[in-house]
Amino acid sequence: MIDMQKIPSIDQFDLHDKNVFIRLDLNAPVEDGVVTDDTRLRAALPTINYALARSARVILASHLGRPKGKLDKKFSLEPVAKKLAELLDHDVILSDYPIRDATNKLVHDMRSGDVLLLENLRFDPSEKSNEESFCRQLASYTDVYINDAFGTAHRAHASTAGMVDFVEGACGVGFLVKKEIEILGKLYTNPEKPFVAILGGAKVSDKIQLISSLFERCDTILIGGAMAYTFLKAKGEDVGASLVETEQLQLARQLLERARLQNVEFLLPVDHVVAKAFQKDADCRITEDTFEEGEMGLDIGPVTRSIYSKEIAEAKSVFWNGPMGVFEWPSFAEGTRAIAKALAETDANTIVGGGDSAAAVQKFGFSEQVSHISTGGGASLSFLEGKELPALKAVFQRAARRAALHEDA
Ligand code: 3PG
Repeated sequence: MIDMQKIPSIDQFDLHDKNVFIRLDLNAPVEDGVVTDDTRLRAALPTINYALARSARVILASHLGRPKGKLDKKFSLEPVAKKLAELLDHDVILSDYPIRDATNKLVHDMRSGDVLLLENLRFDPSEKSNEESFCRQLASYTDVYINDAFGTAHRAHASTAGMVDFVEGACGVGFLVKKEIEILGKLYTNPEKPFVAILGGAKVSDKIQLISSLFERCDTILIGGAMAYTFLKAKGEDVGASLVETEQLQLARQLLERARLQNVEFLLPVDHVVAKAFQKDADCRITEDTFEEGEMGLDIGPVTRSIYSKEIAEAKSVFWNGPMGVFEWPSFAEGTRAIAKALAETDANTIVGGGDSAAAVQKFGFSEQVSHISTGGGASLSFLEGKELPALKAVFQRAARRAALHEDA
């Protein structure tokens, strides 16, 4: 088991005049060569600035998208380097390739206060396959290793986990990872009650482990999005042509039964915004019970919105993951907007678990009014499911080994 308290952080290390390798998650959306959402870049600034203020030579590394182990200009970090330079108000040099002779030279020639960003780590297949020679090469650039890539903490890749074993100096986490594990850790181990979780999205199958884990800690679970229809169908209700995962119906019944036995309020939508076509401009109407031939639910209805908002208003801790409907289309956005608004209006500790829900909170203009928006979609879910995150495990084990060596010495 990882003891989060024992993971060292950047503020415990001497960085002066050292090569500080910082693994970040700069996997930001890019359109026409421009970063369209710089949230992850901004989240990385405190750690980078801290290292710069200590006259370190700062080597940044990240992936962008899934280029399948090949150099593909479409996935270049060039737009990210440009935006980062603007945000830091500091030059950022970008290498041509994550490792190679030219990169080795760039690293070798660095001076205190320089910032070098390695080109997309996933241009090399060894990043994902966690190849030892690649790990060793990255480690050879490094005096101090810092992981501040929470969004990638659930990946056991070379830069997030493998290289840690080969770094000679100190290894720890940056300020972003520290904050994420403090906030999500409290929600996992000791949430203030009542604790309400709101789960949406398309598939029950994606959320089984999360729901099981939440049964142990939550008082109330509010379900929306397409996954609600698998549960409603499992209860024998009419769901028309709504998306149902037929192969998960049995499991959905078991989860409903577990909620009853564990005394967890498990609420499903009582009304719906329905349409006959999955289209942005499809005609829609609200229904409480019957679906006409061909109608599918594409958002929660107004009664459900108000029941869910009331539950949120009465909570002390709230966790939200997954939209309530097709919020990208105005006719089916109101359910998701209502949840974002309810989170913004309560004094409870409100945590948004990355991905689509983070995008929705931002789209509806409530990001400043929630307590925390996690920078990791998959990573925050894995954390709350109780899984060990490989990136955290690597630095934790490394710190434990160093502590043991010092005790033996
Ligand atoms: C994310 O955006 O969720 C992270 O950057 C991880 O990306 P991945 O799912 O491609 O590993």
